[in-house]
Amino acid sequence: MNGNETLSASTPTYTMGYSDEFQKMLDRRNAETNAAHLLPHLTSGLRVLDLGCGPGTISMGLAKTVEPGELHGIDIEESQIEMARAAALAGGHSNAVFQTGDVTDLPYGDDSFDVAHCHALLMHVPDTRAVLAEVKRVLKPGGLISAREMIGASSFSEPALGGLGDAWATFQNLLEANGAHPQMGKELKGVFLEAGFSDIHASGSFETYSTVEDVTFFHTFAGGWFFSPDTVEAATKHGLATREQFEDWRRTMDEWKDAPGAFSAVAWGEATGRKP
Ligand SMILES: C[S@@+](CC[C@H](N)C(=O)[O-])C[C@H]1O[C@@H](n2cnc3c(N)ncnc32)[C@H](O)[C@@H]1O
Repeated sequence: MNGNETLSASTPTYTMGYSDEFQKMLDRRNAETNAAHLLPHLTSGLRVLDLGCGPGTISMGLAKTVEPGELHGIDIEESQIEMARAAALAGGHSNAVFQTGDVTDLPYGDDSFDVAHCHALLMHVPDTRAVLAEVKRVLKPGGLISAREMIGASSFSEPALGGLGDAWATFQNLLEANGAHPQMGKELKGVFLEAGFSDIHASGSFETYSTVEDVTFFHTFAGGWFFSPDTVEAATKHGLATREQFEDWRRTMDEWKDAPGAFSAVAWGEATGRKP
């Protein structure tokens, strides 16, 4: 699957899709950067679940940290699971096991994991309660839930040249139109509490694009993902923006890349909690 196509009843339309451009964004991730709030809780021998693991770039660091404990990764998309398996093989992580499946109907027994973690997953699955109920079921009593999710409203590109703020808003509106939760990062404490987790610690962080290399990457990513025919088609189909607006934003994004103060940041919220 390459575009933003129908996936399953639980995630009817996955906004980001599985294009090469988005894979390049996922390739930049790792446990040290993207699960920094979780790593202090991990010790050798723990059994950890990575929900919506994608190509496993974060899972690899989690697997290494808990060795000889097990890291289980699950994702709805077979191509992602194949990449994660290949990465585990290449990295020599024989304790990492990956399987295709739906996070609202986990194929694991009750009370079977010490830790369940997700990164950029809850923001995409419409039924948050269903995922958290499953996480609670598979965690051992006292087990740790951990998540890191985007805060769309706190993400930005500076200088905010004409229309760039509207482009960010359209991205968030598209997520919402697909049943996703673009502000999930700041809602984690509330949804964990509502799901019956305790001892909750919430925090926030920015993923920044400031160096010439990072600004160039962000510009290329926007060109290949946000301005791709699939995304433009999806947004215009939902009546969120016109093709002319996308063309204007594309030109503005080119100007932004060459601005001396070009700086973009994606805001993330993190939280951990315990199953009582
Ligand atoms: C934005 S990617 C994040 C991947 C990885 N966690 C990371 O941050 O690099 C979201 C992933 O969630 C998966 N996903 C979406 N809905 C799902 C569901 N209902 N069950 C399992 N995986 C799902 C997608 O296939 C995709 O690989």
